Amino acid sequence: MPRHRGTRDMIRERTVTKTGDQKDTVQSSRRIMDEKKTPFCATKKCLLIVFVGLLIAMGIVTAITLLAPAVRGRFPPDLPWWKTSVIYQVYPRSFKASNGGKVGDIKGITSKLDHFVYLNVGVVWLSPVYESPMKDFGYDISNHTDVDPLFGTVQDLEDFIRQAHAKDIKVILDFVPNHTSDRHRWFQRSIDMDPKYKDYYVWRNGSNDPPNNWVSVFGDSAWNYSKTRDQYYYHNYLSAQPDLNYRNPDVVEDMKGVLRFWLERGVDGFRMDAVSFLFETKNVSHNEQPNPNFKCPLNTSTECKKLFHYWRHNYTMNLPDNKILIDGWRAVLDEFERKDGKTRFLLAEARVTSQAVRDWWFKTGSDMTFNFELARAVYKNKHCGGTCIRDAVEKEYKDLPEGAWPNFVLNNHDIRRVTSVRDRNFVNAFNMLLLTLWGTPTTYYGEEIGMVDIAPTFAQSVDPKGLYYGEDLYLNFTRDKSRSPMQWDDSSMAGFTTGPATWLPVSDTYTDINVQKQKNSTDMTPIKVYRTLAKLRQQESFLYGKFSYAVVNNNIFSYIRKAKGFSSYLVAINFGDVSSVDDYSGEPVSSEVGTVVVNTANFKDDTYAVKKVISLKHISLKPGEGLVIKL
Ligand code: BGC
Repeated sequence: MPRHRGTRDMIRERTVTKTGDQKDTVQSSRRIMDEKKTPFCATKKCLLIVFVGLLIAMGIVTAITLLAPAVRGRFPPDLPWWKTSVIYQVYPRSFKASNGGKVGDIKGITSKLDHFVYLNVGVVWLSPVYESPMKDFGYDISNHTDVDPLFGTVQDLEDFIRQAHAKDIKVILDFVPNHTSDRHRWFQRSIDMDPKYKDYYVWRNGSNDPPNNWVSVFGDSAWNYSKTRDQYYYHNYLSAQPDLNYRNPDVVEDMKGVLRFWLERGVDGFRMDAVSFLFETKNVSHNEQPNPNFKCPLNTSTECKKLFHYWRHNYTMNLPDNKILIDGWRAVLDEFERKDGKTRFLLAEARVTSQAVRDWWFKTGSDMTFNFELARAVYKNKHCGGTCIRDAVEKEYKDLPEGAWPNFVLNNHDIRRVTSVRDRNFVNAFNMLLLTLWGTPTTYYGEEIGMVDIAPTFAQSVDPKGLYYGEDLYLNFTRDKSRSPMQWDDSSMAGFTTGPATWLPVSDTYTDINVQKQKNSTDMTPIKVYRTLAKLRQQESFLYGKFSYAVVNNNIFSYIRKAKGFSSYLVAINFGDVSSVDDYSGEPVSSEVGTVVVNTANFKDDTYAVKKVISLKHISLKPGEGLVIKL
């Protein structure tokens, strides 16, 4: 049988095996085809009909064009997955150990894929799993294209990506471009003055002292002396994390190669680490000036001057050159998008210090830059009530450039958990806020069950950032607090590992706060509130609907979400320290009643039970209580 056959041939061939009726059908098809040989529409009458038909068709096209905004409102075709999904951050060391080890691994994460499905989250971001000496727990990479044996293999990661995709979950990896580990072969060769690698890092001469007064994020001079080269190298973080030199085009190309390596293995995007620090000024004779707003926690001025925040960082942060690099990385993602038409996502972790810097970040090739304003607000003021939360939200929405997309973060692996800063009873209030604001939410593992900080002893503590401050102060600075093992159940080690030990202590709250208990409970537990809200968030009004403030006072933060053609919702949450009774019925709600869709579950009676129609004139909310009401 010839490979390419015309339709006619196929119709004819089929008659061979057809029965009576079917043969008639086929023969009539033949007749139609024969008729097509006569000229189409030869008479005046026919031409008139065709003309009128054309006019009607043009009318229909015009009507569709005019109605396009409404049509777009219904099916927003231009919302890529990273705008419609919740991003869930997994800190791999702490998520799930598949092998009885002290540290979590990739197979462990894969075994928990259904957890993400249950939560209704659509994107998983993995903190680094690459080969690393673990001085900064994976943010010091010694091989960008291999997985650390502690976490598994490249094959394990590929399996994870494939299985996640099968469940409609996207995977984004951490990309750590500012620095490598000092164990990376590039750095080893750079020290040895290998001609290709000698300028891969930022080397400068210094007599007996470092080239200038720049201080690293983790404290002390940002310059480290190499005896072999008789030169100093620059490190914005630990001395074991030398900064790459992006003024060398080979470094630029090699890092693009890293992106391609993982894109070829199916990842959907990257969270770019510490991108404010990619470039530093070329002329290192510039010293930084003190930051007048810094309140030093240490006793002497000599000690204070060794702290990162003591200084401004005009010569090492957010330099305009960073944009060129990030645009280049975006172009790499675009290469892949062009090949298969699938959206790839680039997310920046940058230090946004001012409105001007924020505006600038919107112009880079990054799709989104993490917005930490909510977390910062709670940090600064643990009693951050309605107006205080509104101010933090407003910072993100205000002056949002055309086409830019907002986002919100409450927790991550570098900061304390807000449930500990504020109070655990606010867990549902925080999740309600995060999941109903306009913009992409990021959830840090454990946030869905209201995990709290641990307080490791000095001996248990491992984070270099905290250890720098010594035994008296480490607890104020250590990031260990929010990195404790995920609490899956009430078996020993919280179901994190079957082994006898964990790299950081399991929180002693685990018998009370764990996934299994909250899932099995007949009550509306935090995990259930979370998944209900994450599902609700998939509705048009929450995805892209208009956001307008309703009642906002010292306690209450409330707002309306409404997309054209869809139901509108009122979200009202008490972030204050006292109960508040408020009238929501005025502008912009303009309604006396509404139906409860979600409540934060800590209500003592059924006054605000789900599905109940309630009066909006007197809603009484205690601290930590919140409602989503359909208007
Ligand atoms: C990461 C930190 C890490 C640092 C250095 C950050 O911004 O979030 O955990 O220590 O970059 O890579």
